[in-house]
Amino acid sequence: MSETPKDSLQMLGLKLPTDPRWVGIAEKSIEEILIDHAYCEQKAASNGISMIVRYPDKTKMVDEVTPLVAEEWGHFRKVLKELQKRGMHLGEKRKDEYVVQLTNSMKKGGSREMQLVEELLLCAMIEARSCERFRLLNLYCADPDLREFYYEFMVSEAGHYHMFIELAREYSNPEYVKERWNEVLENEAQILKGLEYRGDRMH
Ligand SMILES: [Fe+2]
Ligand SMILES: [Fe+2]
Repeated sequence: MSETPKDSLQMLGLKLPTDPRWVGIAEKSIEEILIDHAYCEQKAASNGISMIVRYPDKTKMVDEVTPLVAEEWGHFRKVLKELQKRGMHLGEKRKDEYVVQLTNSMKKGGSREMQLVEELLLCAMIEARSCERFRLLNLYCADPDLREFYYEFMVSEAGHYHMFIELAREYSNPEYVKERWNEVLENEAQILKGLEYRGDRMH
């Protein structure tokens, strides 16, 4: 293992590293973590569709989020297949406390563009943290098949994080995005500090 969790923090700008011991807890309840992961992918796809429907005039966003929706749905199908391969099934959707708190921490109101920028930064934040967690699963899962399984998600979500940041810059300006992104990262670290590590949650 040449990389450490600290490297991924620097790459993604995250302010708080996930304790790699979380992987051990998650791997013990692999069905639970796969179900939660499946719903994360479903939400990413649904949220992309919702954004397109609410901002059809934002052409660049529509052009980039449309293929992202297909990719996230492809991720959902892959996770579902992984569950089925293990003789497991998709369970009920769970409350995602991390996403609820993160959504509540975002700025409300302002111009339509500013609301879109907040949504894009929220998406970037969830992608960045998901990428970090997939990376830990890729590095530290005991099962080599699972390590391989998580690699693709790590790479893909890193690309999405980058795309959402670039779109935010498109609809505001780079200075504002830099400043606001830093605030979002700080808020996210505070939220994570208040949440317990759970083997049945991706976040
Ligand atoms: Fe995904
Ligand atoms: Fe994604």
